[in-house]
Amino acid sequence: MNAVDSPIRQTADTLEALYAAHLAEQQRHTEHALHRGGYDALLIASGVEKFAFLDDRPYVFQPNPHFKLWVPLIRHPDSWLVIRPGHRPRLVYVQPEDYWHVPPEAPSGFWVDHFELIVVRKPEEALPYLQLPGELAIVGEADAALGDIVPNNPPEVLNPLHHARAVKTGYELLRLREASALGAKAHLAAQRAFRDGRSEAAIHAAYLRACGLAERDLPYGNIVALNEHAAVLHYQYQDQRAPAQSLSLLIDAGAHSCGYASDITRTTGNGDTTFQALVDAMEAAQLRLVDRVRAGVDYRDIHLASHREIAGVLRQLGIVRMDEDAMLAQGVTSTFLPHGIGHLLGLQVHDVGGFMAGEDGGTIAKPEGHPYLRLTRVLQPGMVVTIEPGLYFIPMLLDKLRATPAAAQVDWALVKHLGAFGGVRIEDDVACRDAGAPENLTRDAFAALD
Ligand code: GLY
Ligand code: MN
Ligand code: MN
Repeated sequence: MNAVDSPIRQTADTLEALYAAHLAEQQRHTEHALHRGGYDALLIASGVEKFAFLDDRPYVFQPNPHFKLWVPLIRHPDSWLVIRPGHRPRLVYVQPEDYWHVPPEAPSGFWVDHFELIVVRKPEEALPYLQLPGELAIVGEADAALGDIVPNNPPEVLNPLHHARAVKTGYELLRLREASALGAKAHLAAQRAFRDGRSEAAIHAAYLRACGLAERDLPYGNIVALNEHAAVLHYQYQDQRAPAQSLSLLIDAGAHSCGYASDITRTTGNGDTTFQALVDAMEAAQLRLVDRVRAGVDYRDIHLASHREIAGVLRQLGIVRMDEDAMLAQGVTSTFLPHGIGHLLGLQVHDVGGFMAGEDGGTIAKPEGHPYLRLTRVLQPGMVVTIEPGLYFIPMLLDKLRATPAAAQVDWALVKHLGAFGGVRIEDDVACRDAGAPENLTRDAFAALD
């Protein structure tokens, strides 16, 4: 399977029509960007395989997101796209003769007829199809250079394209829903494995089995954290041995559909009533934050609102006995929520363009004191973002809090009890609509499984 088949059956009509409209939209964006930058054509390298230093083992291939924006191909190094005003997009498709590896299959599927397709056997055979007259904007990594076709990544062209990518087409929303559906199914399998007392490695394996993806096909490394490992925000290992007691599971794991990612986090406890009260309070807070995803809302305000929510939870649970304003003024909530409320989602799990002031570039600043926020734009219909509040018991940050005047207002015995559970994060993928409540891709996916 090369062109990554859709895991959800669509009527051919719907998929075809959505994809055709998606390509028309990309063509329109590209012509606009080329015109602004004074270029005649856009060349996009799919990317090249990279090898470990002094070794012949390749890393997992990561396609250029500009390439997979146009074609549902994620295992295709050395191929190229050529986009020109008034022309059908050209795809130079490299299909080597190779008996060491599985080469890409002959191109087929719903997408093929939209391209002027040129199949070549060797990467260098693509060159004559790229050497076009005029000024060329060439998008790719430096090592994708082929002869005189050297990536120049002009910002005048990339900026408008990156800015536009935040707003998804109907085709992209369909792929993101599929990725959510796969992820939700696998999350339920992981939760069952946790309840069976399995190790992190076994929970991870249950996740992969349920979504039918190999590790190499995940949009990011799964975070599968039992107990205090949940306090490591990007916990990167999976213990082979189950702990003596499995108190909590925080799993942050997504899936891919045709190059589009989901990014989902769920936290499950063992029935401890205090921890469950914390999870329930976070769930309610997260849903209120999701509901703020509306056209015209400054995403920075959702981030700031998340700190007020965390202050409320800390007070409600009796973890910190201060009023909420005082907690915010003294930065107490940042001890417990030391990351941003979320980010753009799409072809990349942290999609590009989160800080862009406009299509010409420029940066919208993060709020003072919030260095880890990844999205500062005003929300528009069609933007897909994550909403992922967390509340963690991170020893390093708690030690710092202990040295402040606020420490006297902290119930340290309760912190010790909850610290054994690591923390809570709940993360949904949410699409902003023209009006009214947002579409919650993640919750819809879980609901469909019920
Ligand atoms: N999985 C990484 C994140 O939630 O941003
Ligand atoms: Mn995320
Ligand atoms: Mn995540």
